[in-house]
Amino acid sequence: MPLFDVYPLFDIEPVKAQGCYLWDSAGRQYLDLYGGHAVISIGHSHPHYVSQISQQLQRIGFYSNSVRIPGQQALAGKLGSLSGYPDYSLFLVNSGAEANENAFKIASFHTGRKKIISFGKSFHGRTSAAVAATDNPAIIAPVNQHDHVVFVPFNDTEAFEQVMDDSVAAVIIEGIQGVGGVRVPEVSFLRKIRELCSRHGALMILDEVQSGYGRSGRFFAHQEAGVQPDIISMAKGMGNGFPIGGILIHPSIPAKHGMLGTTFGGNHLACAAANAVLEVIEQEDLLANAAAMGELLIGALKGKRGIREVRGRGLMIGIELDRPCAPVRQALLQQYGIFTGSSSDKNTIRILPALNVGEKELNIFLDAFDNIIS
Ligand SMILES: Cc1ncc(COP(=O)(O)O)c(C=O)c1O
Repeated sequence: MPLFDVYPLFDIEPVKAQGCYLWDSAGRQYLDLYGGHAVISIGHSHPHYVSQISQQLQRIGFYSNSVRIPGQQALAGKLGSLSGYPDYSLFLVNSGAEANENAFKIASFHTGRKKIISFGKSFHGRTSAAVAATDNPAIIAPVNQHDHVVFVPFNDTEAFEQVMDDSVAAVIIEGIQGVGGVRVPEVSFLRKIRELCSRHGALMILDEVQSGYGRSGRFFAHQEAGVQPDIISMAKGMGNGFPIGGILIHPSIPAKHGMLGTTFGGNHLACAAANAVLEVIEQEDLLANAAAMGELLIGALKGKRGIREVRGRGLMIGIELDRPCAPVRQALLQQYGIFTGSSSDKNTIRILPALNVGEKELNIFLDAFDNIIS
């Protein structure tokens, strides 16, 4: 049986990974500055992560949400204190799209409304409401099309003010836009969203699926603006490759039995992975490393030949070239064995390494980049 052919593939088969490095079946080493779409947060095969998941699997790997799963409580406690949201509650799912679906559902249940405001170049996932709120008509199937979503240009406060009214259930915005080409929302824009959501009784949903979990140098990217969203969605870095996502929900939003549900979300193994990730983030002070390494790399890239703009914060970096980036990424991979990411902007390379990447790895990239551009 063939695989349903939806992914263009590199002809590379990784068979081993450690930290920021991968090795393929022919024994070639690669530097991973992309983490498989920003997923690898604490580095590939971190020993603490491997041992925690292995030990959990020896005891019990799965049971459904009809029993007590202590790993969920442990995760909620750690996540609350590390993220600075100890009074929010946690609902666990399996992916970023699913996190956003549930965020929309809560907003709609809570407000009794259905209108959603989203922004230009946004990406929120490929499922029902999440894809409808994604600014890419090419991935919206007819069944996903509806007129509940209004798109507003990103960072355009005036346009946003014009569409906000008492019919809006939720406004969704990424902490830093990822797929759209690493675009940072202005502090004043996030604050205006908070202000108008509160004024009109709408919920502010912060999609931190890509920008969260320490990637920006803060636990969540929106914390730069000092705003408190009603719901925060997260996924990618949360399990370092083990599928897990979740939403943090403001204490003013009450839960009701049956309101949300999932078979796999929050299972024993997923919680073991997510708890190990938080332990490593804390023990190795990875937020500080992400901030420091990000500053270093952004500083080194700015003003370089071939670069039009460097965007982002911490280890979520977009390098907009003065030319299409595909041949440059290709050369980085083929000649230098360096994985980078693309974006919906054809000139922009995305750099999303593990949060414990070091100066040595950044210099390998900078040298390779210079050689290719010259
Ligand atoms: C900001 C954002 N939200 C949601 C998603 C969807 O996540 P998933 O692919 O886990 O469903 C992504 C994936 O790239 C994302 O970048």
